Amino acid sequence: MNRLKLSGEIIDEFNKAFKKARVSGEPEPTAMVLATSNGEGMVTSRTVLLKALDEDGFVFFTNTHSKKGRQLAICPRAAATFLWKASGVQVQLVGAVTRVSDEAADAYFSTRDRGSQIGAWASRQSAPLDSRETLLQRVKELELQYEGEEVPRPPWWTGFVLSPETVEFWTQREFRLHDRFLYSQQSGVWNKQRLNP
Ligand SMILES: Cc1cc2nc3c(=O)[nH]c(=O)nc-3n(C[C@H](O)[C@H](O)[C@H](O)COP(=O)(O)O)c2cc1C
Repeated sequence: MNRLKLSGEIIDEFNKAFKKARVSGEPEPTAMVLATSNGEGMVTSRTVLLKALDEDGFVFFTNTHSKKGRQLAICPRAAATFLWKASGVQVQLVGAVTRVSDEAADAYFSTRDRGSQIGAWASRQSAPLDSRETLLQRVKELELQYEGEEVPRPPWWTGFVLSPETVEFWTQREFRLHDRFLYSQQSGVWNKQRLNP
């Protein structure tokens, strides 16, 4: 797959800031707000968890039938923002989104606890639900269905890679004179530019 590759410098910078967020007491440093679009100007956002990062980009898992999944099928681009309040850092990504391979999705799904695996089958994510009881009843039925067996990955549950074209690091500084560094790629070369706060 022809994805933009992140530079080692960006990955190092992200990992350094991520560690700092964790040691500063950030409760959920993998949480990122992901914005997607229907391609016609309707933009929606929600939180997802970062599950992997390498030179291909930032990986999250979700339901392809969800609102975000449907939007990504129409418009395979997204923006994502990490807010690490405890360490005063924000990281913003913008880029193309592609699905991970079925093998990679299976491998990650197999590491989830059984309750979450059953939950992935039970939840018709983003569709209306008449009551919580309906959902819990589905869970019960699925537990019986898969009793004594491994729970396979639902075909509609997979991972996506956000491969950024731009990555911006914002660091809080005194008197609102914050530092902002924008990495952007042109013809395969990453440039780093300081921006006004
Ligand atoms: C802290 C946090 C982490 C979440 N992580 C995920 C996730 O990794 N994947 C996911 O599909 N939904 C996750 N959710 C739920 C989403 O925010 C959202 O409600 C759901 O994916 C449906 O979104 P959609 O209707 O816009 O597609 C998380 C919510 C919170 C608050």
